[in-house]
Amino acid sequence: MELIKTRKELQYVLNSDRNRALSIGLVPTMGALHKGHLSLVDRAVRENDRVVVSIFVNPTQFNDTNDLKNYPRTIEADAELLSLYPAVYIFSPDVSEVYPEPDTRRFDFGPLETVMEGRYRPGHFNGVAQVVSKLFEIIKPDRAYFGLKDFQQYSIIKNLVAMLGLPVEIVPCDIVREADGLAMSSRNALLSKEHRAVTPQIYRILQEAVIEAGIYAPDEVKRRVIEKINSNALLKVEYFEIVDELTLQAIAGWDQKGKKVGCIAVYAGSVRLIDNIVFDK
Ligand code: PAF
Repeated sequence: MELIKTRKELQYVLNSDRNRALSIGLVPTMGALHKGHLSLVDRAVRENDRVVVSIFVNPTQFNDTNDLKNYPRTIEADAELLSLYPAVYIFSPDVSEVYPEPDTRRFDFGPLETVMEGRYRPGHFNGVAQVVSKLFEIIKPDRAYFGLKDFQQYSIIKNLVAMLGLPVEIVPCDIVREADGLAMSSRNALLSKEHRAVTPQIYRILQEAVIEAGIYAPDEVKRRVIEKINSNALLKVEYFEIVDELTLQAIAGWDQKGKKVGCIAVYAGSVRLIDNIVFDK
């Protein structure tokens, strides 16, 4: 593992790798690494000769300054975890390395960005697209790995790559969960003991929703999920939508063609958690 802070230094080592025909994988992160991230790194290491793990808390994707301020930053522990991987470069740049000038680009993802996360976090996906396109430009990876917990982000990135015609393969990686079902997330570290204790209910209720899809129409399944989660005083649903996996628009009925995904955002106190589940119908 090598820790690199500047784009010049990173490009120098990557050029030399590329000249030796080595393949390059990218795992973009904002740090506070957990087992979910490590599962992406494991896969990237298996599928590429060299792997860049970027650790950068991207200011342009936060629409809430407190959220940006409170986002966990644990670079020393992150470097320690990655020290077990000889083929990994950590790229941990300062803001001025990624954005030497303010990034004024405005991406248009159409209806993909006006629902769910896009609706409740205006500008979020524009910021994600800005930073991911910058990382792709700096690193020029053959493959980039994204966790499916951020299902809408994965759709947006696929769209971004198609829109810009970039030669990078986007690899989706399964959600990794704690033993009690809570989806792993850097934000879990911010949960109080009381809130952490009730968060497994989110996935349990999503699993029940998949069973209830055999009984009720989508709108009723949706209503029941929101009601059950909100019945716990420590949890508050921001949205739950059952959407088509490609268009991200709410489905009209279970007989609609294509894979359906139930996507949820829940506040546990001041910590915002997201998760999703596939409806096998
Ligand atoms: O998923 C994340 O951690 C971030 O949105 C990403 C992709 C690293 C961009 O900052």
